[in-house]
Amino acid sequence: MCGIVGYIGTREAYPILIKGLHRLEYRGYDSAGCALISGSEGDYHLNIYKAKGKVSDLEIVAKDKDKSGTLGIAHTRWATHGAPSEANAHPHLSQSGNLTLVHNGIIENYGTLRQQLKKRGFVFQSETDTEVLVQLIEYVKTLPVTHGEKEWGLDEAVRRALSLVYGAYAIAVVDRREPNKIVCARKSSPLAVGVVEDNSEFFMASDASPIAEYTKQIVYLKDEEVAVIERGKQLEVFNLNGDRAEAEVKEVNVDLSMLDHEGYPHFMLKEIFDQPNVLKDCMRGRIVESPYSSEGKREPLMQVVLSAVTLNRRQLLRARRIIIVSCGTSWHAGLIGKQLIEHFCRIPVEVAYASEFRYSDPVIEPDDVVIPISQSGETADTLAAIQLAKQQGALIYGIVNGVGSSIAREAHTGTYIHVGPEIGVASTKAFTGQVVVLTLFALALGMAKGTVEQDEYQATIRELLEIPSKIEKVLEQNDKIKRLALTFTYARNFLYLGRGYNYPVALEGALKLKEISYIHAEGYPAAEMKHGPIALIDEEMPVIFLTNHHKRYQKVISNLQEVISRHGRILAIINEGDELVKSMVDNYIEVPETLSCLTPLISVIPLQLLSYHVAVAKGLNVDQPRNLAKSVTVE
Ligand code: F6R
Repeated sequence: MCGIVGYIGTREAYPILIKGLHRLEYRGYDSAGCALISGSEGDYHLNIYKAKGKVSDLEIVAKDKDKSGTLGIAHTRWATHGAPSEANAHPHLSQSGNLTLVHNGIIENYGTLRQQLKKRGFVFQSETDTEVLVQLIEYVKTLPVTHGEKEWGLDEAVRRALSLVYGAYAIAVVDRREPNKIVCARKSSPLAVGVVEDNSEFFMASDASPIAEYTKQIVYLKDEEVAVIERGKQLEVFNLNGDRAEAEVKEVNVDLSMLDHEGYPHFMLKEIFDQPNVLKDCMRGRIVESPYSSEGKREPLMQVVLSAVTLNRRQLLRARRIIIVSCGTSWHAGLIGKQLIEHFCRIPVEVAYASEFRYSDPVIEPDDVVIPISQSGETADTLAAIQLAKQQGALIYGIVNGVGSSIAREAHTGTYIHVGPEIGVASTKAFTGQVVVLTLFALALGMAKGTVEQDEYQATIRELLEIPSKIEKVLEQNDKIKRLALTFTYARNFLYLGRGYNYPVALEGALKLKEISYIHAEGYPAAEMKHGPIALIDEEMPVIFLTNHHKRYQKVISNLQEVISRHGRILAIINEGDELVKSMVDNYIEVPETLSCLTPLISVIPLQLLSYHVAVAKGLNVDQPRNLAKSVTVE
């Protein structure tokens, strides 16, 4: 969802801005633009280029134009107010032509402000809330001032204008009359500023990925902070009242190889294939040999060590209820987390859509633990949900991938997923990473509570360590899955069925297909099918059946029979060597057997590959599907 890049320094800004915008493409967008301050003393002007479509379209627009200048701001826009178009693309220009601004988020009172500004003679060129903000800053700049100068400076005008708006924003603003300055601010939308030691250069962006190759020193602005970035000067941060705030510099390490698809045709495929390795990273240092491992035992005892569980042990042991809040794929991981935590820790778990939770007037007790699950760490609904729970006294335990992200910072404690940046819009490795962290959490807390037997604890840890190599075995079947996918591209609907731990996987498989192939798909608990969806089944209807679940195997087989008798086109995900199901269905994918509670980590892999190949066969943009954003920073 919208991305901001900015640069001020000694080099030409344009190539840095374009590269940065490409880095942010994964967030999802539908238009792009940039503004550069060019010229020299006494004759500075703004060059603004915009295009509907991709960053590459912007490059075409700017091709033969003046792209000089060592200061610039740029943006990828995901339409909220007004359709994707050149006029609605950012940067937006103020009426005088002096100020220009890029913005992520939503100005909620933009309608009223727009009316008021119109009455004062402002004319609008776009339908966006963002244009209202740049005109408001211009208007505020010209208000009578008390300090003797003719107009407020840019930073003062930005601070004053922001105190008049409601909503969410990350902004970068420039004024051609102050050609050595960029003013940035944030509230509920992320903004990072990269600094170099001698202050000769500054980089701004919505996340660290466009900054990482230039500097590791990053300041993440906090809510309602305004950064004044001036060439050659120390970065200054203020609150909206103009009081100075601390610019806390963090050292951030981003593995740049993760930002490249390294020979794979798409990020999504690379990220699916990354899973065995990144899941090892996710477990690294968290599964260790137990100090109580007695000599003479054939295998050493293992234990899960999560520092956040150790440090918050007392509060976690007191928890009478856990509430998981998340959205989309992360919500599916939450459904698996519920089963894991209830099984290993015997604590009741509720799983809420963050968007519903935040407005549901939830009853939260001080002994509750709230777990936000988020890949990006920036999802607006999840962030708002935990802010609410925090105010009411709950412990917030974040399970987040985005290091230093807003949710990670808002949480009291938590465990990072550590699967590296996920670029493909459809979540794959983040989902399996979330499930691994939830398993580790349930095991660590279950052991602390004494609700898990040592034998089961050891067996689960050992099996978890085997998961990466079992995923490799599923990935070896990529060609077969591709062949099967080609036989399904005709379909307009799919049904995904699974039980127990495989039910959330059915939901996730259906979501993956919808997102990138635009085929309607539904996930259902297999036994619920006969209460309605069974009416949909005919010889045209593909039914993806997850039978690799030995706990309720016989029951799943009965459900399978029900579909076979209605001539549904079944593709079954089966445990290796399951001759019974093989004899019942035409199409199947064999996956290695594992423990029930770890089944999702295996059975989701063929579903990810299936969606990917169906979408590729349909010629669709797999990494940036239409209308979707990677980081959903609006509610
Ligand atoms: C689906 C997908 C989304 C996200 C959802 C929450 O592939 O990626 O459904 O899971 O938007 O995002 P995060 O996890 O960043 O909070």
